[in-house]
Amino acid sequence: TRPLKVALLGCGTVGSEVARIMTTQRDDLAQRIGAPVELAGVAVRRPGRPRPGIAPELLTTDAEELAARPDIDVVIEVIGGIEPSRTLILKAFEAGASVVTANKALLAADGATLHAAAAKAGADLYYEAAVAGAIPLIRPMRESLAGDKVNRVLGIMNGTTNFILDRMDSTGAGFQEALDEATALGYAEADPTADIEGFDAAAKAAILAGIAFHTRVTADEVYREGITEVSAADIAGAKKMGCVVKLLAICERSADGESVTARVHPAMIPRSHPLGGVREAYNAVFVEADAAGRLMFYGPGAGGAPTASAVLGDLVAVCRNLVNGGRGPGESAYTELPVSPMGSV
Ligand code: HSE
Repeated sequence: TRPLKVALLGCGTVGSEVARIMTTQRDDLAQRIGAPVELAGVAVRRPGRPRPGIAPELLTTDAEELAARPDIDVVIEVIGGIEPSRTLILKAFEAGASVVTANKALLAADGATLHAAAAKAGADLYYEAAVAGAIPLIRPMRESLAGDKVNRVLGIMNGTTNFILDRMDSTGAGFQEALDEATALGYAEADPTADIEGFDAAAKAAILAGIAFHTRVTADEVYREGITEVSAADIAGAKKMGCVVKLLAICERSADGESVTARVHPAMIPRSHPLGGVREAYNAVFVEADAAGRLMFYGPGAGGAPTASAVLGDLVAVCRNLVNGGRGPGESAYTELPVSPMGSV
């Protein structure tokens, strides 16, 4: 069978793990997919950096040329941010490739354009890694729960802030000290503002609300408050009341089904609540649906390897579709519903 060719755009914390797993698991992946999968190019910003396990001739600084190469079957975008990622993904679709992306900011700002481009190209768009790292959440929501009526999605969707709040709670560390540790461990985004000001969680809430309620929600429609104002005194006060402080993301469908609410803010939660026991950079998301009842998704929500796990799962799904002649789930038919920050917990 002809090898499937993969272009990797970005080779940072997540990208380097994706490349490593593609190499170390090469034989297993080929067996599972039914065709060999080959890394055909890696777009990087700094080609001089040592990249163990990646053949130097695969490296290029011309991401646009790589994304548009006609021989590429799957483009994996792990650069992040809106541009140039959007342009690169659109080039990939134009060239007939399918796309796997971890780009929550782009999906939450302009997912509609990506879905439309995928549909036009007859290609797949998968993005499990965009929300909650390794935790399977997008596919269960897009597929397993597609026949149910989801009413609420809520939980801890940012690993960095959970790590920081957990450290502040367990060691009494100050905000900055805990943030530095999160950065050193590779949890925080390049610019920690996205994490600590709640933009990252708001983007994830927008993506999940859109899928859950078959509508479109953009990140700027999500009410947002970060954790920079949470002080050691707040944490100590919560502790006295048997509570922990967590950054929650809450998305709800209104009772009449005519609108949705989406918001991200710190909240006090009883220590005994399942969300109160979520430690370190773990994420936990509850999904409440009419028939399914209350589901809890829990696991590592950040970090290179967990996020790469989700990317690899998507890669296998896309490759299987290519081998078997199938297609992944496209965008659900949707109704535009107004989004407001209010609602009830
Ligand atoms: N910085 C993000 C987090 C990474 O801390 O959750 C995963 O999106």
